[in-house]
Amino acid sequence: MFFYRKKNKCSAVISNGIITKRSHSNIALIKYWGKHKKKIQIPLNSSISLSLKGVYTVTRLIYYIKKKKGNLSIRIFFSGKEKTSFLPKTVEFFRNILFYCSFLKDYNFIIETYNTFPHSSGIASSASSMSSLALCIMEMEKRLVSSLIKKDFFFKKASFLARLGSGSACRSIYSGLVVWGYHKSIKGSNNFYAIPYPYMVHSIFRKIEDTILIVDEKPKSILSSKGHQLMNENPYSRERFKCANKNMDRLISILKIGDFQEFGELVEHEALTLHAMIMTSNPYFLLMKPNTIKIIHSVWDFRMQNKKNIYFTLDAGANIHLLYPFEEKKFIKKWIYSDLFSFCKKIIESFCY
Ligand code: DP6
Repeated sequence: MFFYRKKNKCSAVISNGIITKRSHSNIALIKYWGKHKKKIQIPLNSSISLSLKGVYTVTRLIYYIKKKKGNLSIRIFFSGKEKTSFLPKTVEFFRNILFYCSFLKDYNFIIETYNTFPHSSGIASSASSMSSLALCIMEMEKRLVSSLIKKDFFFKKASFLARLGSGSACRSIYSGLVVWGYHKSIKGSNNFYAIPYPYMVHSIFRKIEDTILIVDEKPKSILSSKGHQLMNENPYSRERFKCANKNMDRLISILKIGDFQEFGELVEHEALTLHAMIMTSNPYFLLMKPNTIKIIHSVWDFRMQNKKNIYFTLDAGANIHLLYPFEEKKFIKKWIYSDLFSFCKKIIESFCY
């Protein structure tokens, strides 16, 4: 893989330092659910997401030279408090990327991080946290190994590294529409890092509102990594992967034509298919809550009665993202706050462009 650097080719500088980077969360329109059994973080279908403005993680990476060669030492602070529970995933991440960033072995680290969205909001933070950490590491590579790194390489490798921490994190490196995973119709798409969506996008999709309805603040009953693994045995998974690929082709033409209704229906179908996979895995899970269902029905009724473009999508959890065009924002937002507020613990406003 071309992200690997031969050691003797680097003129490494050794010094202590501090780097701060931020990265946004993202919401997938076509979902990544299922990864290769034997390879590290290779998706079984391509996915596409929108980056969420205002919903981000800030990471400060403090690196200092190891006094003695040996084990890696990392301390993590989340919103000012030390979090040892974050260590296993972070240490595993550093181990996974060491081959591609061998300069890391000379350092110990302190990672300080916070989210702009409430920690207990149920919004997945692994995408924004892993991608902000990957950006810090690339900045470190630029400072210590090669100051001549080109912008394009910087972001590609950051996405490649982020993927090794969490699949969806590789899409958070870029803003707007981002694709990860090989798809025959998308030039440059690949399984190793994400790319900005390379084709024409109608102006109606340039600014999409995303109102996030927090129905459940508790941690999910199934970790994404486990859910992906269960797809290997799910009797419907082959059809799901085929369907995701077809949906990508459909989405390419929808994005060009600018049909928000088709867009929304496809996005809702994707969200429900994700949950159908979760419900039909073994063991099975039901992640939607009664209020999730109530909101979905209210959205469908409101849409029918008012002929408005409002559609939902879901992550692997109970919370709902409501997507609608910027132009229709006023009327829709008023309805959300008057009719849906009582079903939610919190509402977070974001937008994607
Ligand atoms: C439902 O990226 O959290 O949000 O690669 O194991 O860290 P890991 O999984 P993760 O899975 C995200 C699943 C999803 C859909 C998506 O974002 O595409």
